[in-house]
Amino acid sequence: MAPLPSPLDLRGRTILVTGANAGIGYWCSEQLAARGARVLLGCRSPKRAQTAVDAIRARVPEADLRILPLDLGSLVSVAHAAASVDEQLDAVICNAGVKASSRDARTSDGFDLMMGTNLLGHFALVAQLVPHLAADARVVSVGSLAHRFAHLDPPALTAPWRGSSLRQYGRSKAALMAFAFELDRRWAASSRFSVCAHPGYAVDPLTPSRDGVVEVSDAVRALAAVTRFLVQGKDGGAAPIVHAATDVDVQSGDYWGPSGLAEFRGAPRRVFSSDEVRSIRVGEAIWSAAEAITGVRF
Ligand SMILES: NC(=O)c1ccc[n+]([C@@H]2O[C@H](COP(=O)([O-])OP(=O)(O)OC[C@H]3O[C@@H](n4cnc5c(N)ncnc54)[C@H](OP(=O)(O)O)[C@@H]3O)[C@@H](O)[C@H]2O)c1
Repeated sequence: MAPLPSPLDLRGRTILVTGANAGIGYWCSEQLAARGARVLLGCRSPKRAQTAVDAIRARVPEADLRILPLDLGSLVSVAHAAASVDEQLDAVICNAGVKASSRDARTSDGFDLMMGTNLLGHFALVAQLVPHLAADARVVSVGSLAHRFAHLDPPALTAPWRGSSLRQYGRSKAALMAFAFELDRRWAASSRFSVCAHPGYAVDPLTPSRDGVVEVSDAVRALAAVTRFLVQGKDGGAAPIVHAATDVDVQSGDYWGPSGLAEFRGAPRRVFSSDEVRSIRVGEAIWSAAEAITGVRF
């Protein structure tokens, strides 16, 4: 009798990772490629994407990789990217994100940079990828602990914001998570999964070196080493996200994050989200607002 394939073996699976050239998206890509998945690296800079491909191939010579040009801050680029996918996708990891910006920073479509990239770009991307999704495909939306401090006002999704950049970042992540949980409800009758995951608190100085991708001086590494009991590297931050994209114990509508103190670091486990991002009323309103703003019907 032929041996059953290992759950770690992802040969035959194709996974798109947005923002794959740096940080957590890079580590998701390397970890998935090491398990045999074909990885599409959705990146806006061809040069940075190629550097990431070279770094992965230095560790995983047989890696099956393709660069997918993708700028989530441009609806034209998002449409081109979706149209140039000719593979069937087993998972899409909506990882790319802008974590801080000024109030007047805009995407090329004129949307607030964080809301436009983190939510609207991914909304438009996933909507246009539906024809390419496998019957049991998973969409993993990368949330954040910061969503817990956010209050969402869907009709004012792209209105000028007040308060700190961190608060607006939290809103953009909460909006992405509300979209993900609404997608889970809309896919209830299908075999597709919509899942959220967050990386905890993941920093470059605790992350292994990768040429051109993670380059941190020894002095900074030494200083950061004392924080290792509390926070983790971006390789560790990728773990709950990769788990959500691939593991058999994941259910649609789940939210995964690190198991350690304050969910900053540790092995993946199910974690709690705010009630607001799971609210049907909020999810439907975010969906309608995203359709109206982007002009993309989902
Ligand atoms: N690090 C943490 O502790 C933490 C905590 C909670 C949540 N997260 C979330 O985890 C995700 C990754 O975070 P990270 O720390 O790895 O961030 P990072 O190191 O800053 O990497 C962000 C990635 O997103 C890409 N990106 C940004 N704007 C883009 C656009 N318009 N189109 C395409 N790609 C774009 C970047 O590409 P470029 O190189 O072209 O800029 C880069 O590849 C984010 O969604 C973040 O909100 C991170």
